[in-house]
Amino acid sequence: MTIKITLPRHFGQFVIREWTAEDARQLADIEFDPEVKQHLKLPLITEEEFINHFQPRGWAIAANQGHIVAGTIDMNTFEQNPKKRELRILLAKKYRARGFASEAAQFFISCIFSAPWTEGVVAVIHPKNLASVALFNKLGFIHTCEITTERQVYEISRTKFLNQHHRRASP
Ligand SMILES: CC(C)(COP(=O)(O)OP(=O)(O)OC[C@H]1O[C@@H](n2cnc3c(N)ncnc32)[C@H](O)[C@@H]1OP(=O)(O)O)[C@@H](O)C(=O)NCCC(=O)NCCS
Repeated sequence: MTIKITLPRHFGQFVIREWTAEDARQLADIEFDPEVKQHLKLPLITEEEFINHFQPRGWAIAANQGHIVAGTIDMNTFEQNPKKRELRILLAKKYRARGFASEAAQFFISCIFSAPWTEGVVAVIHPKNLASVALFNKLGFIHTCEITTERQVYEISRTKFLNQHHRRASP
């Protein structure tokens, strides 16, 4: 079951593109930021190992004509339902609160639902991660269940996505 993501995809202030080997250090700075550890799992390897054996997940969110790594976005099969995809997005501090995450996530949500078999898109969020809760609420996700107290599931169903789309398209 594949989902088609056509890249590079250009937005006003950034581009979503494939990773290149030159991105390793910039992505490591974002992924290994100790503050991020409060709410997200850090990679299990060291930062040096991460850079030396660069196998990034997902795609780059890149600013400055694609030269600066502003963040990363990826999607995985949701552990509780193979017809759902879990989105994960992470931005460098400097690039937060500029609407990057809303635009990038919206693009991926549309790509995911363009596959006819997809039932939903989820985000698994730490309850104290207010920025992430705000982001996904804004995108129409609602809290549906919990995996553990620290891993709360927010979700948008296909029906809700289509309704939102329809409302936006209506005059
Ligand atoms: C979560 C994250 C990706 C949001 O990125 P962002 O680019 O700042 O998000 P946006 O600018 O698109 O903002 C989306 C909405 O969330 C709100 N928001 C953003 N940060 C917020 C915060 N700290 N507290 C409350 N609301 C916040 C914005 O106001 C906006 O709503 P609005 O348009 O109604 O004003 C970013 O904070 C981040 O990378 N955090 C660390 C990693 C992480 O937790 N990722 C989530 C895992 S799925």
